[in-house]
Amino acid sequence: MQVSVSTYGGIVTTLTALDSDGGFADVVLGFDNLDGYLAGHPYFGAIVGRYGNRIAKGTFVLDGEKYELAENNNGNHLHGGIVGFDKKLWRAHPVSTPEGPQLQLTATSADGEEGYPGRLDLDVTYTLTHRNALRIDYRATTDKPTHINLTNHSYFNLMGAGCRDILGHEISIAADRFTPVDKGMIPTGEARDVAETPMDFRTAVAIGARIEDDEEQLRMGGGYDHNWILNSADSALSPAARVHEPTSGRVMEVLTTEPGVQFYTANFLDGSLSGKKGKTYGRRSALCLETQHFPDSPNRPEFPTTILRPDEEFASTTVYRFSVAS
Ligand code: GLA
Repeated sequence: MQVSVSTYGGIVTTLTALDSDGGFADVVLGFDNLDGYLAGHPYFGAIVGRYGNRIAKGTFVLDGEKYELAENNNGNHLHGGIVGFDKKLWRAHPVSTPEGPQLQLTATSADGEEGYPGRLDLDVTYTLTHRNALRIDYRATTDKPTHINLTNHSYFNLMGAGCRDILGHEISIAADRFTPVDKGMIPTGEARDVAETPMDFRTAVAIGARIEDDEEQLRMGGGYDHNWILNSADSALSPAARVHEPTSGRVMEVLTTEPGVQFYTANFLDGSLSGKKGKTYGRRSALCLETQHFPDSPNRPEFPTTILRPDEEFASTTVYRFSVAS
């Protein structure tokens, strides 16, 4: 396997994975050069923060103080604002470890950057392990109370980036419940049972099997674009999802310490971006599994907290593990 990462946005620009015939393919969407990324794109491969996912109306109150953030997504705040961590220039430090090669990325986020309180010192480490996994370890500290929710926004197509849609990929998600959303894609606060809904991925199902069902949540998202509440109750590294692509045999397992995962079927891609090797990326030509805390947690005290205080360290780990199965 090979993984390449850009200091711009900490973007995973290529990730090659083996198929059942011994062939390798690059399974993440992206561009051949920096210009493609600079021209604007929907977070391909990027580190997302300071707050991945949405914050309702771009505002929250923390310790009695009201904060205003950019409303960059239908009146709500998305993925850290106008210049989020996906556009940051990270310092990179390669290290060789017994587990495999590592790239340590560091950056700071100033107090007040994109409206958020507190200066963050950030450390995101990518490890390509000898067990065919990409592990991402996120660490951060702050000098004032703030909210933080970091993720990686890689778009996977296990047939190879730029091949057809991902509707034939089979996925299972280790979640009995998900957080339904309103028209603005903000959680209503409900934790809904997935049973007897098209959100039930407790056993593996082809992504395309129910994606066109006439169901309110699928209509709202234009497909899957929701947060699943992972069953693992503690913050140990636990299985979140497994994806199998039958024609190549490729399997990707996702493990995380986070309580949720946004499963997004690239409903907003429309073929207008010219990606690697001139390939275009059509609607649903990839899937994202964004491990995370739940959307809008700063306004939802009943959700697991995303508050980080100066005496604490933020720590989060996600693993994308690759293998083959028939
Ligand atoms: C996340 C969101 C989607 C979309 C993508 C980026 O997955 O939930 O609605 O904004 O990021 O295009």
